Amino acid sequence: MPGIFASGLLRGKTALVTGGGTGIGLAIARALGEVGAAVTIAGRRPDILAAAAGTLAASGIDVAAETVNIRDEAAVARLFEKLAEARRFPDILVNNAGGQFSARAFDITANGFRAVVDLNLTGTWLVSQAFARQAVGRGGGRIVNIVLSVASGAPMYAHGAAARAGVINLTKTLAIEWAPHGILVNSVAPGLIRTEALSRYDPAEIEAGVAALPLRRMGESEEVAHAVVFLASPGGDYVTGTTLFVDGGKHLARPLTGGPAILSSRERRE
Ligand SMILES: NC(=O)c1ccc[n+]([C@@H]2O[C@H](COP(=O)([O-])OP(=O)(O)OC[C@H]3O[C@@H](n4cnc5c(N)ncnc54)[C@H](OP(=O)(O)O)[C@@H]3O)[C@@H](O)[C@H]2O)c1
Repeated sequence: MPGIFASGLLRGKTALVTGGGTGIGLAIARALGEVGAAVTIAGRRPDILAAAAGTLAASGIDVAAETVNIRDEAAVARLFEKLAEARRFPDILVNNAGGQFSARAFDITANGFRAVVDLNLTGTWLVSQAFARQAVGRGGGRIVNIVLSVASGAPMYAHGAAARAGVINLTKTLAIEWAPHGILVNSVAPGLIRTEALSRYDPAEIEAGVAALPLRRMGESEEVAHAVVFLASPGGDYVTGTTLFVDGGKHLARPLTGGPAILSSRERRE
C-alpha cells in the first residue's frame, strides 16, 4: 500500500504499540516508523517480537522490543520505567494488544468472560493509566485504543463487544479528564481485517460477515494503521474522545441475527 503521509511527519516522536509483534499492531508500528517515529513494540512472546523488530529494523525503522503482559499491573509499571530509562518513553501509546474468541453467549463460561474483559478492558486501562501518570509531567501525549466495531452489537462476541464498549466509553471519559494535561485519547474501531489471527475463526462466519458489510470486502491492516497515524499526527490535534470506524461501514449495517454466524461449527456440520 502506498505511503499516504509525509515521510518526516512524526520525526522526533516516540511510540509504544502493544501487540506490535503481529497483525494490525505490526502494521501500525511499521506505519508510525515509516513516518519517522521511534517505535517500541510490546507483547508476551519474545521470539515473535524479535522477528518483527528484525523486519522493521531492516526497513530502516528505529525499533525496540519489550516483553509485557498488559494484564499484569507490575509488569506494565516496569515497562514504562524501562522505556523512560532508555529515553523511549512514548509520546504516542497505541493500545492494540487484545483478542477474543467466537462463542455463543449461551456457551461463554464465567472464566472466559472474565479473561476477555481482563485483557481488553482492564489491560487497556492499566497501560493507559501508567502512561498518563508519567505523560502528565512530560507535556502530554496521545493514546489510540484499537477496539472492535461493535456499535450495532456483535453476535458471537458478547464478551469482546462488552469489553470494547467499555474501552469506547473509557476513551470519552479519559479524553475529558486528561485534556487539561495535554493527553488526547481516541479509539479506532476495525471491522473485519485480514490478519493471521482471523484464520482461527470459522471461514463461513467470516464470509457471512463480509457479505453483510456495505463495502463488501475485508479491510487491510494498513488501512487501520493509516487511521492511527492520522490521530497521532498534527492532523489529530483537535480530535479527542472520538471513535473512528475503519470497518467498511459495519457500524451502519444490521448485525447478523441468524444463520451461520450464530450457529456453532458443530451445529453447522449437523
Ligand atoms: N483482525 C481483525 O479483524 C480485528 C478486527 C477488530 C479488532 N481487532 C483487534 O485488533 C487487535 C490486533 O488484532 P490482530 O488481528 O492483529 O490479532 P493478533 O495478531 O492476535 O494480535 C494480538 C496481539 O496482542 C498481543 N497480546 C495478546 N494478549 C496480550 C497480553 N496479555 N499482553 C500483551 N500483549 C498481548 C499478542 O502478542 P502475544 O501473544 O505475544 O502477547 C498479539 O501481538 C486486537 O486487539 C484485536 O482484537 C482485530
